[in-house]
Amino acid sequence: MSEKSDRGAALRRGRAPRGGASGRRDAGVRYLVGHTADLKPGESMKFLMPVRGADEECFVINFRGRFHAYVNRCRHVPMAMDWVDNQFFAERGRYLMCQTHNAYYEPASGECIAGPPETCGKALYRVPLEIEDGRLYARPPESEFED
Ligand code: FES
Repeated sequence: MSEKSDRGAALRRGRAPRGGASGRRDAGVRYLVGHTADLKPGESMKFLMPVRGADEECFVINFRGRFHAYVNRCRHVPMAMDWVDNQFFAERGRYLMCQTHNAYYEPASGECIAGPPETCGKALYRVPLEIEDGRLYARPPESEFED
C-alpha cells in the first residue's frame, strides 16, 4: 500500500470539457487530483477539495485498475476512515475498511457490506472522477451529504 498522501495539497482548477456542465452550483469546476501513473492497483491517495465552501477530505483509489473516489467520511459515524493515514484497503486490497469500528465497503460501489448493522447497505459519498491524458480530475459530489 502506498505511503503517498496528498493531504493538504492545493488542487488546481481545470476547465470542464465542453458539454460537461450539469447546471449544478459547482458545474464546470473540476480539480486536478493527480496522475493515474502515480496510483498503482491497491493504492490510495487523499486530497482536499472545496465542497459547499469548505475543504473536504476525499480519497481516490485504484481498485483492480479502475479509479474511484469518495469523501473520506464513514457512513457509521461521520469521521475519517483512515485512523492510520491513507490506509483504506483491507483484506489484501479486496475491501475498503473504516478502522474505527471495522465497517467494510466495496471499493467499486462504496456500499457497506459488513460492520455496524446500521451502516450496512449505506454507501460512501462518491466523488465523480474524470480521466484525461492520464490526469485524474475530481468534481464535488453531486448529492448532498450529512456533516
Ligand atoms: S466510524 Fe466507521 S465503522 Fe464506526
